[in-house]
Amino acid sequence: MEAAKKKAAYAAVQHVKDGFIVGLGSGSTAAYAIEALGERAKREHLSVLGIPTSYQAFLLAVKHGIPVTTLEEHPVVDVTIDGADQIDPKLNLIKGMGAALAREKIVASASKQNIIIADEHKKVAALGENGHPVPVEVLPFAIAVVQRRIEAVGGKTVLREGKGKLGPVITDNGNAVIDAVFGVIDDAAELERKLKMIPGVVETGLFIRLANAAYIGTVSGVEKIERKILR
Ligand code: A5P
Repeated sequence: MEAAKKKAAYAAVQHVKDGFIVGLGSGSTAAYAIEALGERAKREHLSVLGIPTSYQAFLLAVKHGIPVTTLEEHPVVDVTIDGADQIDPKLNLIKGMGAALAREKIVASASKQNIIIADEHKKVAALGENGHPVPVEVLPFAIAVVQRRIEAVGGKTVLREGKGKLGPVITDNGNAVIDAVFGVIDDAAELERKLKMIPGVVETGLFIRLANAAYIGTVSGVEKIERKILR
């Protein structure tokens, strides 16, 4: 599985050109892309600037010698390379199992190209399959209210607990994460709209019509899936 993730990451990094502003995704697969980008930039003397989507990505950028910048300085990102938790045939995604969903979505929305990298286990026929939750980042003040509202639109909710820390996970933005299980999601865009209308919801892990392409690492190689984006 690690080899598959690495293959996908190395393939995706070929999209980066000299002078690019690059969105640096979060998670274990994106970590390989940051490593690969650092190696490529060094070997080919590329001048690139990274926009990290999390504190994890920031630390990895520093480790691999990629200078970082901000959305204030570069509000338009040339390409973002990021992982995903589920990928449907239209390249709609569930993200956020690493609690980095809000910054990931902001950077993705500012990017001319979004390249997703994953191993083949992330491919699904429909988002929400296998009881996979939709992560929802929530203002701590609003947790109980948001949980009730999500339950009212059919989600079974759990407040995500930290690992290596007592109590709830706290995101890089100081918020909590509610994991909401809806079962198979028939209309992800509509669910996204409903969740975003709940006061206190900062962001959801449903990434609809954001990805341009995905590199899927398999035992035998890398599969590329592309989609045209009208926006
Ligand atoms: C981080 O919040 C997520 O969106 C990750 O991109 C996603 O969980 C994929 O992570 P892995 O590559 O570690 O599976």
